[in-house]
Amino acid sequence: MKILILNGPNLNLLGKREPKIYGSETFEDYFESLKEKFSEFELEYFQSNHEGELVDKLHEVGFSYEGVVFNAGAYTHTSVALADAIKGIETPVVEVHISNVHQREEFRHKSYLSPVCKGVILGFGLLVTI
Ligand code: DQA
Repeated sequence: MKILILNGPNLNLLGKREPKIYGSETFEDYFESLKEKFSEFELEYFQSNHEGELVDKLHEVGFSYEGVVFNAGAYTHTSVALADAIKGIETPVVEVHISNVHQREEFRHKSYLSPVCKGVILGFGLLVTI
């Protein structure tokens, strides 16, 4: 089962960026623990700070992978292009946020992606299992 973990802008700074909100672990370390824990899945990871590259990646995997776990960062709250890309592919996409965006600023309460995603998980930080 092929699953893509897709991260959007500024998530390359995890570990350094606002650690009170996002924790102090780098995504690379976290990804290693995910691969160990879920060795039955073929996990791939891609991060980009560029909206079009995220659209391209969704198109690339969206007719062959079994799932995409997508943290679109701030593009969540702005991007019609990413919503259209998710709508246009066959692979189900799950929207993820490390923080509980509903406890934060008002502009983070709106997601263009939630209506076109299979589901949403948010507010649990970088947990490997619950
Ligand atoms: C985030 C929440 C977004 O509002 C923010 O712009 C991010 C990270 C999260 O994982 O909590 O970059 O997606």
